[in-house]
Amino acid sequence: MESSKKPFWEESYKRKGKLDTFGGGKPSKDVATFAPKIKLPAKALDLGCGEGRNALYLAGFGFETSALDISVSGIQKLNTVAGELRLNINAVVCDMRQYTFNKTFDLIVCEGCLHLIKHEEWSKIILKMKNSTASGGYNLVGVFTDEAPEPEDQRGLMVGLFKEGELFSYYQDWQVIDSRTYAFEHTHPNGPTHKHAGNNIVARKP
Ligand SMILES: C[S@@+](CC[C@H](N)C(=O)[O-])C[C@H]1O[C@@H](n2cnc3c(N)ncnc32)[C@H](O)[C@@H]1O
Repeated sequence: MESSKKPFWEESYKRKGKLDTFGGGKPSKDVATFAPKIKLPAKALDLGCGEGRNALYLAGFGFETSALDISVSGIQKLNTVAGELRLNINAVVCDMRQYTFNKTFDLIVCEGCLHLIKHEEWSKIILKMKNSTASGGYNLVGVFTDEAPEPEDQRGLMVGLFKEGELFSYYQDWQVIDSRTYAFEHTHPNGPTHKHAGNNIVARKP
């Protein structure tokens, strides 16, 4: 993230108790739908995992799971909940722009994060994700696009909004299992109602 302003999720990550920052703490639709189709044993990486709703689900499902996020509070919450659930997750505080992709994964999840970093940086990260995916493995990626402007209360956070369809163009040489364009309106605590537009892809490496 580029902005010095604290994003709304930081306060929420700090709250003790159950996960509720994104998706009510439940895994995303794509993770819940496609991860169970992957044959175990398998290795998963959750990039920009936040407080860990997807990483915890993947570990619970039996994936050998690694996760990283730039947020200290997010990783602390993930590790606390993983400990309570007796789940083993290799979760670290790390800026994904500096992450060394030195392992191969069967599944890499990166949801809601890449538009928070600049285009020239996220484009390199997508290529590293693709290179670090095993043959037959999956990438599940979700980003916001500039079809909806950056919300007033999050100004300066979304420095790398994608163009509509840009994410899909990075996966033309993979099998696209699912790709979606969507828009929705919502309101964060104490913030104005605003709109988001996004692209999601589930792609399999040949
Ligand atoms: C909208 S949240 C999504 C969290 C999680 N992927 C989910 O779906 O619940 C975006 C996350 O990206 C993380 N993030 C932003 N920039 C990052 C970076 N450069 N490296 C690692 N994580 C980053 C934030 O700390 C935040 O937890």
